[in-house]
Amino acid sequence: MGSSKPFLAGFTLAALLFSVIGDAFAADIKANKKRGQVYYRMVCTACHVDMTGSSIPPSGFTMAEWRAYLDADKHDASGRTNPSVRYYLQQTYRESIKDENKAAKKFLKLPNEQLYADVYQFAVNGAKDSDTPATCN
Ligand code: HEC
Repeated sequence: MGSSKPFLAGFTLAALLFSVIGDAFAADIKANKKRGQVYYRMVCTACHVDMTGSSIPPSGFTMAEWRAYLDADKHDASGRTNPSVRYYLQQTYRESIKDENKAAKKFLKLPNEQLYADVYQFAVNGAKDSDTPATCN
């Protein structure tokens, strides 16, 4: 039975290392709200204006509403477009519109989680009860 000790020790060490590395990766995602703004205006707003005739600005919701909205990952109850807001941040979506959309092309290689963090930050930072409410203009 004594032989299981080194194995357990090795296992614990590996688990510890993985959790440290995992944290490092999680901490690696630093939101860039400027990039979020560019993407929001050129992709999200472009379609909102196109389909509804008006924009849906960050300042249209409170910070809490934005967090709840993005966490719930629901989109457009009318059913005309994709029901997941994250869908529009995916690399596959960017790939599909890259020829006609400069922001999608520019940020094509950005990991999905990074772009999500960027747009999240821009929306919450520009909410109507934030210090810097942002319209889409
Ligand atoms: C292909 C077109 C399209 C794209 C791209 C798009 N949206 Fe929308 N979005 C819509 C439509 C259509 C509605 C419904 C508007 C209405 O009914 O008045 C909507 C509604 C919304 C609403 C209002 C609440 C709701 O769900 O009805 C929010 C917030 C929103 N979109 C956020 C985003 C964000 C953030 C992005 C970019 C990551 C995005 N949308 C990309 C078409 C789009």
